[in-house]
Amino acid sequence: MDNAVYSSSEITDFKTKSEHFFPLAWYKKMLEEHPVYYHAGTDTWNVFKYEDVKRVLTDYALFSSVRQRTLVSAGSGTEEGTFPERLNIHDSDPPEHRKSRSLLSAAFTPRSLQAWEPRIEQVVNDLISEMEDKTEIDIVKDFTTPLPIIIMAELLGVPHKDKLLFKKWVDILFMPFHKENVEEVNQQKGKAAKEFFSYLHPFVVEKRTQLSDDIISDLIQAEFEGDKLTDEDIVKVTMFILGAGIETTSHLLANSFYSLLYDDPKLYDELRSNINLVPNFVEEMLRYRFQISKMDRTVKEDNNVLGVDLKKGDVVVAWMSAANMDKDVFDDPFTLNIHRKNNNRHQSFSNGPHICLGAPLARMEANKAFKIFIETFSHIEPVPGFDLEKNLQLAAAGQTLSSLPLKVRR
Ligand code: HEM
Repeated sequence: MDNAVYSSSEITDFKTKSEHFFPLAWYKKMLEEHPVYYHAGTDTWNVFKYEDVKRVLTDYALFSSVRQRTLVSAGSGTEEGTFPERLNIHDSDPPEHRKSRSLLSAAFTPRSLQAWEPRIEQVVNDLISEMEDKTEIDIVKDFTTPLPIIIMAELLGVPHKDKLLFKKWVDILFMPFHKENVEEVNQQKGKAAKEFFSYLHPFVVEKRTQLSDDIISDLIQAEFEGDKLTDEDIVKVTMFILGAGIETTSHLLANSFYSLLYDDPKLYDELRSNINLVPNFVEEMLRYRFQISKMDRTVKEDNNVLGVDLKKGDVVVAWMSAANMDKDVFDDPFTLNIHRKNNNRHQSFSNGPHICLGAPLARMEANKAFKIFIETFSHIEPVPGFDLEKNLQLAAAGQTLSSLPLKVRR
């Protein structure tokens, strides 16, 4: 994962954090005027339409995940922050990709999900009971940030008492680059990877002698090409899973609360009177409010399947969040509508061989979180004077909420 990294902010050139947080006007323009767009500054091709995005993500014979340049800045260039080459799930194509994916997918079977359900419910209930007596909460600090951290730590089998440390390391390791700060960010990433690695290593070593019902224990017992994984392999895989599963889910949860407060304030009552609508709500949030999902691939062979001449080695960025707004697939796409029948066709979790392995877990977390929260609190409302622009911060997902105060009534 030590590829050259370019910054998607050069392509979008948003003027404010709020525009970056919810760039629907930009998507509309690109979908209508530049559905296949070459950006000279980053030397990238960019696709926005649903079918083009799907093609790029699924057709690995033409669009490869083996990259020389990338916009995904995961890990660090140092030893501790580099994913083990032979287990590389992110930067590989089938058939190699299948081997590393099957190693991890053993931990994410429907059976494990079923076993985790009560533990997830317990974590949600514990966090909600800590808010019990309050009339005003910061939903980001009290709920949407800690929830995925505690769940991931619980499922992996590492203690979550140091949850803020995990968050700090994960935030740094997935922090996007800007043209001006590459060296500084690289240094921070190297330091974070070293600290994160040294923190996790003793837990893996100890667990070898005390296997239990968690993902690290599964990885210890797993075999890969006839070999067992080393402690170092397991620590690095654990760092990657923590990274993939924490910020993404927090972002979905926080954005969904924002939507309930500001996009459609009547929605909360509707969900409360029909709690069975929560899964539709979660899918529509993944379609409408999960900004800004994008992924890159490298052209493997010259082709013109996107209607332009692509050369081997060209980089193509698939803008999944824009594809989720394509009117050829979603009626009235720029409107939030939890009743739309096909909202689960969104591509926020990607598509094709690399489709998110944690999607069923993320869906379960979000469904439990909203069901239990909505059943507990009869009413929520915004805190007057909230200034969105001042409460956003840059993260791997784009601009994410650093704080979101709201008033609650039981
Ligand atoms: C709202 C929550 C989430 C979103 C939107 C999301 C999104 C994504 C996307 C877009 C990819 C695809 C990368 C590609 O096409 O190359 C991906 C891959 C992956 N995600 Fe997620 N993710 C979420 C939550 C999770 C969780 C909770 C976990 C696990 C604990 C997880 C684990 C993974 C893994 C292991 C991969 C790599 C799969 C592969 O390359 O084969 N994700 N995710």
